[in-house]
Amino acid sequence: MIAGIIRERKAHGQKAVLGLPTGSTPVGIYRELIRLHREEGLDFSNVVTFNLDEYLGLGPDRLQSYRRWMQEHFFNDINIPPENIFIPDGLTPPEKLDEHCREYEAAIQRVGGIDIQLLGIGRNGHIGFNEPFSATNSRTRVATLDPVTRRDAAGDFFGEEGVPMQAITMGLGTIFDARKIVLIALGEHKASIIRETAEGPSTPRVPACYLRQHADATLLVDTAAANKLTAVATPWVLGKIDWTDQLVKQALLWLSEQSGKALLKLDDDDFRQHNLHQLLRHHGPAQSVAHRVFRWMMAGRRSARSSRGVHDQRQHRGLRSRRQTNRRPGERIQPPVRHRRVQIQRPGRARGPVVGKEGPGR
Ligand code: GLP
Repeated sequence: MIAGIIRERKAHGQKAVLGLPTGSTPVGIYRELIRLHREEGLDFSNVVTFNLDEYLGLGPDRLQSYRRWMQEHFFNDINIPPENIFIPDGLTPPEKLDEHCREYEAAIQRVGGIDIQLLGIGRNGHIGFNEPFSATNSRTRVATLDPVTRRDAAGDFFGEEGVPMQAITMGLGTIFDARKIVLIALGEHKASIIRETAEGPSTPRVPACYLRQHADATLLVDTAAANKLTAVATPWVLGKIDWTDQLVKQALLWLSEQSGKALLKLDDDDFRQHNLHQLLRHHGPAQSVAHRVFRWMMAGRRSARSSRGVHDQRQHRGLRSRRQTNRRPGERIQPPVRHRRVQIQRPGRARGPVVGKEGPGR
């Protein structure tokens, strides 16, 4: 998508303007763009970038500075002209901060606005450093960091005390002006805030939820971050579904939790009271489907126990098993990462997220 915009703009002799985040989330995107540059000649000479934010008081020589992070993770490896890179300057003296922020906004205007704004999300729903209760029309400014943000950043600063109290950030208004927005979330620790962002009430407590009002905003999540979305956690409440064994099991465990009853004690009324009429119709009555799930679970436990046995034996024969699998000692097989694409809803559309096809996201 990003490469497409860069190529398309270049073909028309125009600049592509990217709004960029830092953090663990976009690392894979930067790596892929670097690969496209090296292997497929993706040209960044007509690209202009604006970073979302920078810690106040940090210069580019500091380990945690976003300017330094961007150089090391992206800019040093592509052919972007240095004068096309814009990042708020964390060392701006206090008396010049207002002017610096105004100039940042003016620079975005001068190049005709941002074509695509990439975003990560904080566990408290912040985007950039627009913390809970930021004004929706806010522009680039100095913002005071939320305690959750400072706690999450503590690892980078060798303790919470080292985390700056303030940062310069693009405002929510600045972000919403981008023509296209893509918010990316990876990992289980983002699942709750992603649910609130995509499906919760519109509230200033979760700044990212206002992205639902944008004309072209997409949420890109991996399987772990999607876990609590209705379409993944309880798809049966959204309408007709194909009842795979996995979904039947998921529904029964959910029903047992909701009703506070053991699996084998569930009755037809529990199913009806929790919108599981379709499951009851196709796989009921309650007792029979509950017994089926119970048997699968027992069989699953037995096979997990026996494969653990095999694994233990392999560990004892470590050398042989490593040679066979061609893995380095101690290296674990990583499950394939899958992504989901969710079109962020705009007001007036049907309730519940629209989850597109699963597939490799980048
Ligand atoms: C910081 C940045 C945000 C970023 C967030 C999430 O607070 N200011 O722009 O989205 O961290 O970081 P991560 O991607 O590491 O989860």
